[in-house]
Amino acid sequence: MKVKNICCIGAGYVGGPTMSVIAQKNKHITVNVVDMNIDKISAWNSKDLDRLPIYEPGLSKVVNEARGRNLFFSTEIDKHIDEADMIFISVNTPTKTHGEGMGYAADLKYVEACAKQIAKISKSDKIVVEKSTVPVRTSEKIKEILNRYNKNVKFEILSNPEFLAEGTAMRDLEIPDRVIIGGDNSSAIDSLVKIYSSWVPEKNILTTNLWSSELSKLTANAFLAQRISSINSLSELCEETGADIEEVSKAIGMDSRIGSSFLKTSVAFGGSCFQKDILNLVYIARTLGLKKVADYWEQIIIINEHQRNRFSKKIIQTIDSNNLNPKVQILGWAFKKDTNDSRESAAIYVADNLIKSKISINIYDPKVKQSQIFFDLNYINNDEIKNKELVSVKNNMLKCKFNTNVIAILTEWDEFKHYDWGQIYKKMNKPAYIFDGRNILDRKKLESIGFNYIGIGR
Ligand code: UDX
Ligand code: UDX
Repeated sequence: MKVKNICCIGAGYVGGPTMSVIAQKNKHITVNVVDMNIDKISAWNSKDLDRLPIYEPGLSKVVNEARGRNLFFSTEIDKHIDEADMIFISVNTPTKTHGEGMGYAADLKYVEACAKQIAKISKSDKIVVEKSTVPVRTSEKIKEILNRYNKNVKFEILSNPEFLAEGTAMRDLEIPDRVIIGGDNSSAIDSLVKIYSSWVPEKNILTTNLWSSELSKLTANAFLAQRISSINSLSELCEETGADIEEVSKAIGMDSRIGSSFLKTSVAFGGSCFQKDILNLVYIARTLGLKKVADYWEQIIIINEHQRNRFSKKIIQTIDSNNLNPKVQILGWAFKKDTNDSRESAAIYVADNLIKSKISINIYDPKVKQSQIFFDLNYINNDEIKNKELVSVKNNMLKCKFNTNVIAILTEWDEFKHYDWGQIYKKMNKPAYIFDGRNILDRKKLESIGFNYIGIGR
């Protein structure tokens, strides 16, 4: 099938950037990105490109080029499903909060609702592409729903997982290490290969069966997260022995068989994918009776929780044992730099631990909005009153008073490295402590200013 019209359901962190690049590179294809969230769609359509709903370096340029030409953002879901030859499902698949598999399994209610809607609307044959990360064999379920609700139209299902990382999404889309397309119909696979091959070399486009494609996504994320938990577990060992985790990480990473990526110690990994995908993998293994396999992968999550709790505990103990004013200035809320996304950010958990110990906090992040920060806290601890009482948020670093004894860095934003730490020290109560949850500052320099510097694993 020669694809002329694409519809993507879900204008989020994945759907938005991915479709922008597909439209940019395929001028002959009309791409409609639809979402049920009216505010989000109007933000995608806003004239002021600084108001796009997600912050991603390089995104606004691509949107500016393609929007209105062959890229459109709309809430008219039914209309665009009807017109499309190919439909991407890119809605969120959060971890289940109730029912069977609660706390582990991915909640597929949005994916299933999309499949039902596609079936009900479609009058012509369609290729349906799973973009959302889903448990293995979800495509079977989608197929079953499509065929149950519509017996007149032929649907082909493909799995095309996304490997973009936030903050570098545009580069990851532009020059992907690989694009994976899983399916069991070669003509449908070819249609999608053609779309990607307008900018990705064919040798980087890997075609597989459906299940391999679905499993590759989950396990690629599990492997990446595994490296972070491995290095983070060693950071604790370093703190006990006097070894420096940065030196150890460099030494390990210089072995070309290991490589240096994803060996940066941190206060813990966050983001919408790692935890969810690993929990999903654990759930799948457990349901298949593979207990040892499940326990092995679950350990990654356990170390991650341990790492952020360890970090919080150190702050709380420092405040308690030195009788300091129970107040902390947090720098960084996003789960990593160069994004306004805070899903599963370590900052949320650290802040919550501090709040539970009745420590008040002031938070500054260059991109995450105050409303999002309160949303994250209220979601995690369900204690709006306490959050209001103990938390304040500043959207401008100059407005931060720094009149506390403790600063905690939780995201590795570049601007934090370039602050005038001598000036900040002067404003702070003494003794002054910096807990550097990302090891981004120069310990010697800070100690020479007068700070007590506490990094990770050193
Ligand atoms: C993506 C993937 O789809 C998910 O599986 C992966 O694991 C993480 O990344 P992402 O784009 O980050 O999700 O999610 P989000 O930014 O929340 O966007 C999803 C969008 O889908 C939202 O804008 C939501 O309004 C929309 N949506 C959801 C619909 O339009 N219809 C629905 O039925 C459900
Ligand atoms: C991840 C995968 O990298 C991507 O391929 C997939 O499509 C989605 O999930 P993302 O979550 O956007 O991408 O960001 P990533 O760069 O992987 O970082 C995840 C978390 O790990 C962040 O909190 C980051 O700070 C942390 N991290 C990363 C470390 O702590 N150390 C590292 O060495 C690398």
